[in-house]
Amino acid sequence: MNPIDFDHPPADPAEACRSWFRESESMGFANPNAMTLATVDASGQPHARIVLLRGFDARGAVFFTNRESDKGVQLRANDRAALLFHWDREPIGRQIRIEGRVTLASDAESDAYWNSRPRESQINACASQQSRPVASRAALQAEQDRLTAQFAGRPVPRPAHWGGYRVSLDRIELWQGDKYRLHDRVVYLRSGSGWNVQRLSP
Ligand SMILES: Cc1cc2nc3c(=O)[nH]c(=O)nc-3n(C[C@H](O)[C@H](O)[C@H](O)COP(=O)(O)O)c2cc1C
Repeated sequence: MNPIDFDHPPADPAEACRSWFRESESMGFANPNAMTLATVDASGQPHARIVLLRGFDARGAVFFTNRESDKGVQLRANDRAALLFHWDREPIGRQIRIEGRVTLASDAESDAYWNSRPRESQINACASQQSRPVASRAALQAEQDRLTAQFAGRPVPRPAHWGGYRVSLDRIELWQGDKYRLHDRVVYLRSGSGWNVQRLSP
């Protein structure tokens, strides 16, 4: 592990995040890239659910989903989102909080990720009207069977409503747990091309 000196935090928080992602991957978590995605709907009601981080660089954090889902509808109404990672296993107790504005990932990025998925996942993504009511599991399976027959012998095309979103890195907080609640926190606020950095009380 590469401990951060919270009194002299690293200059680049994105690089610090990548380092924590790598360390979490090496620790055998089932889904080290799982993150809570919080969105806010048009009435101001927040909503949260888990999605998987599939890309991360200075432009932002990328996940893929059905853009007609509840989260897609919420992001159309309000383009702000928050992401939360949490890893808790000795010796690591950490969170990363990211806040920013959401934009659509490009068609090329969405195609590249879609094409990397197993055929079964592609078919099931097509079969599911994510977040809409469905009568039964049998109804889902019937749709899966219908699409499996429809696309037999050829690639499953990415539906137009399925793709990526990118959350910009406007605010990044690194949190590391310590004994008796003397936790370490540092927050980075985007300021022009750089960052305002502050240590926060736990
Ligand atoms: C570990 C885990 C990973 C998930 N990854 C994704 C994902 O990458 N994309 C996605 O759309 N849903 C993913 N889901 C399902 C979402 O949590 C959620 O049920 C779904 O996206 C519908 O959310 P919505 O109705 O708020 O739009 C995942 C769930 C879990 C538990």
